Amino acid sequence: MKIGVLTSGGDAPGMNAALRAVVRRALSAGHQVYGIRRGYEGLLNGEAFPMDLGSVADIIHRGGTILHTARSERFKQPEYQDQAAAWIKQSGLEGLVVIGGEGTFKGMVELCNRGVSAVGVPATIDNDIPHTDYSIGFDTAVNTGVEAVNRLRDTATSHERVFVVETMGRHSGQLALAVGVAGGAESILIPELPIDLDNVCARLERGIARGKVHSIIVVAEGAAKGFEVAGEIEKCMGTEIRVTVLGHVQRGGTPTAFDRLLASRMGAKAVDALCSGLSNVMVAVSGTELRLVPLNQVIGVKKKIDMEVFRLAEDLAR
Ligand code: F6P
Repeated sequence: MKIGVLTSGGDAPGMNAALRAVVRRALSAGHQVYGIRRGYEGLLNGEAFPMDLGSVADIIHRGGTILHTARSERFKQPEYQDQAAAWIKQSGLEGLVVIGGEGTFKGMVELCNRGVSAVGVPATIDNDIPHTDYSIGFDTAVNTGVEAVNRLRDTATSHERVFVVETMGRHSGQLALAVGVAGGAESILIPELPIDLDNVCARLERGIARGKVHSIIVVAEGAAKGFEVAGEIEKCMGTEIRVTVLGHVQRGGTPTAFDRLLASRMGAKAVDALCSGLSNVMVAVSGTELRLVPLNQVIGVKKKIDMEVFRLAEDLAR
């Protein structure tokens, strides 16, 4: 088979490890692999090049994606989707492995609807893709966030301050929740749940009353802006609050061993699925098992927040 591979949407640590697995699994099974640069933009520009074993050497530990990525606005339009599907056929590509998040998978479905065979590999630090416990990059981003919280805790303790830490997650609180629980935050604000700043202040006051010298509040960017939350808390607490916006720092960095292993397994599984004739599916992990999930069960479905974990966080940060 002649297989194409691309990375699209926001990058995620471990995309390179997934790419390496796709290329090496495909080559060792006797297939040809073509890398497509800049995601769907590259498809529209015909930016494909042949990949060999050496082209994915020395990348398993590197963050970002050597294929580069883009958020293609053009590709959302049907005429460009037609153009991309036509180019795939003309260039003789018989299947595509698509590495990215939900937006990327929406584009993939459009290609499948136009007769292209494609298998998805979930990669986004947001971990907001349903039917998979994890997406590639999430574990690394959580660890980056927790490392930041650890550092902020030191200075927060010294100065007896409250810090607001804003994580990424435009539409999803999965990252903020994990960072908040693992970082021992006093309160966690996420877009899936209503924000109750009175409760945040009450918890802070209770902590101070029992002798706490510092506090951390984690807020997902999709729930509220960190500076706005800090402003509101300052009003009720009457003290100065410091704010750290983690932003794209969370999307970079060397992937954790967990993400490398997950990416290696998922990349290889995607090739196996494609070569056995499957299409319009995504590789997912459930517990330790890899599964294949039809994309119509994924697109437009909101991944649920684990309320048990959320309540646990509230319970433990007393
Ligand atoms: O990739 C997901 C994500 O990092 C979100 O958490 C964030 O809101 C968004 O991408 C930022 O996108 P961009 O890099 O295009 O600003």
